Amino acid sequence: MRKTMKKTTMMKAAACLACVAVAAAAPNDAATCEAMAEKLNQRFIVGSNRFNTTSTGQEARDELREWMASNGLLVSMCNPQGYPDVYGPCTDEQMDHISASWIGQTDRTKELVEADILSPLQLYNTGTIGLVFNTSNPDTEVLCVSPSDSASDSRQPDAEGNPACGSFNKLATESLRMTEGYLRSVKEGDKPNATLELAVSEWEKYYYLGNPSKNMTGVSGWDQMKWWEGDNVTSDANVTCSDLYWTSTDPGEKKWAAIKPLVPMEEYLADPKNVWDPTKTQWGSFPVYAKAGTWNMTSYEELLGHPLCVDDSDPCVMDGTCTEGELTVEWLADPLEPQHFQQAMDMQVELYGKRIPGLPEGKASLPQWNEISVSKNANVKGGVEAIFVRKDFFGPGGTLELLEKQRGSGASTGPVPPRAKEFTEYGARQLAENYYGGIPVVYASMKKEDALAGKVFGCSPDA
Ligand SMILES: *[C@@H]1O[C@H](CO)[C@@H](O)[C@H](O)[C@H]1NC(C)=O
Ligand SMILES: *[C@@H]1O[C@H](CO)[C@@H](O)[C@H](O)[C@H]1NC(C)=O
Ligand SMILES: *[C@@H]1O[C@H](CO)[C@@H](O)[C@H](O)[C@H]1NC(C)=O
Ligand SMILES: *[C@@H]1O[C@H](CO)[C@@H](O)[C@H](O)[C@H]1NC(C)=O
Ligand SMILES: *[C@@H]1O[C@H](CO)[C@@H](O)[C@H](O)[C@H]1NC(C)=O
Ligand SMILES: *[C@@H]1O[C@H](CO)[C@@H](O)[C@H](O)[C@H]1NC(C)=O
Ligand SMILES: *[C@@H]1O[C@H](CO)[C@@H](O)[C@H](O)[C@H]1NC(C)=O
Repeated sequence: MRKTMKKTTMMKAAACLACVAVAAAAPNDAATCEAMAEKLNQRFIVGSNRFNTTSTGQEARDELREWMASNGLLVSMCNPQGYPDVYGPCTDEQMDHISASWIGQTDRTKELVEADILSPLQLYNTGTIGLVFNTSNPDTEVLCVSPSDSASDSRQPDAEGNPACGSFNKLATESLRMTEGYLRSVKEGDKPNATLELAVSEWEKYYYLGNPSKNMTGVSGWDQMKWWEGDNVTSDANVTCSDLYWTSTDPGEKKWAAIKPLVPMEEYLADPKNVWDPTKTQWGSFPVYAKAGTWNMTSYEELLGHPLCVDDSDPCVMDGTCTEGELTVEWLADPLEPQHFQQAMDMQVELYGKRIPGLPEGKASLPQWNEISVSKNANVKGGVEAIFVRKDFFGPGGTLELLEKQRGSGASTGPVPPRAKEFTEYGARQLAENYYGGIPVVYASMKKEDALAGKVFGCSPDA
């Protein structure tokens, strides 16, 4: 099977980087492309339609899938890989689930796009092509949904086993819980059991000596190669969280925010504006929470004799002002069940619907996507009905350039190969023809005017 495929693609590829455009112009292909672009454009315009259900569980999932067949698009961004064979499935990363997003233009998002507050398509940044899932296929059901990025690569499955739908950062939270248990036992005069004793000792060891696998540098400064010089624990009292934990030099790291609801989810979901209510939402640094499992710096104080670390994040993470312009906001609570899809989308618009200080005139911030977990099984023939190529990604003023400006470095997008646009188009066509069984490839415009005119998708590669 693989051998045969290799031969045919090789034959095509031999002549073919330049003939992509010719193939696209063949009458059948052009008609199929136009029909798909038209269909996607119609679905993209959602207007005042809302998903509203009283069902739960599987019933809600099925209803949402049906609703999505005519309302918006369920998409996942990825980068083609391989040449001349392009290997499917196209995925963002190797994870136990597909990280997808729902995009669609509602009455409210249209206003915000018009005002340059929302980006016309709120797509995950780094993928150059998008897979449009075929929501008629049961494998494309929404397993869970978050209003923003949910750091799904660091999440457990939920109680039903749905991948990336459960808790974030279980290890860090657990070690904090253990430390608290240990301290409680000591205080109550009980001898802490071996599990607690071990957990706390391990934690302390990493705190002082570091843990390379977690990029934890360790505060004691002890160096095995100069073991006789000893350590320097006097320097631990005011260690900054950056010195304690991370080594990335991306300036965006200190502006990476996260939110955590402070009230029960039922109450939280009643009003999307709760994301701005300090009695209902705690804002803070995502890297600090991800490493320490808490924003309470006094958590380990009884053990250490001083706060865990000095949070030196940009203060904008505390009030959400860096959602605007810099990195995305991470949702730290468990992702929501499909029946809460609409509330999650409303929260997304609330989170990113503020005017952005410090961005170039007429430019919206880019990281505004929502995150939806979908089964990996959707990523085969029958699960994907179209591929779109972002037509302005690489050009001057394109997404890549904006990303680099907004993040202060190109680190997040990785190195861009020569003739990246050519390769992306070739890759999209190869995947569509071979791996996904002959589906159309269309182009997606990121231009505000196109989105407002309901003409996001089309068949012309020209930006
Ligand atoms: C949802 O649908 C029910 C029944 O059709 C309706 O009464 C209710 O107002 C709707 N809720 C929203 C938020 O649209
Ligand atoms: C040790 O103590 C903790 C807290 O009291 C408890 O949750 C845990 O089950 C205990 N473990 C064992 C092995 O006894
Ligand atoms: C850990 O540090 C290395 C370089 O020392 C860096 O490449 C990597 O991105 C860091 N990982 C995390 C999770 O910060
Ligand atoms: C120990 O740390 C303190 C504070 O960072 C520093 O001033 C001092 O030079 C260090 N001493 C040694 C021996 O490294
Ligand atoms: C830590 O900071 C506090 C407050 O700024 C200061 O009083 C203290 O001397 C510092 N400790 C060390 C070891 O630098
Ligand atoms: C922070 O942690 C300390 C020590 O565990 C605790 O006493 C305090 O109540 C916590 N503060 C908050 C705001 O949770
Ligand atoms: C979409 O899924 C349905 C149901 O599984 C299937 O019949 C149909 O062929 C699929 N469409 C594409 C383009 O694969």
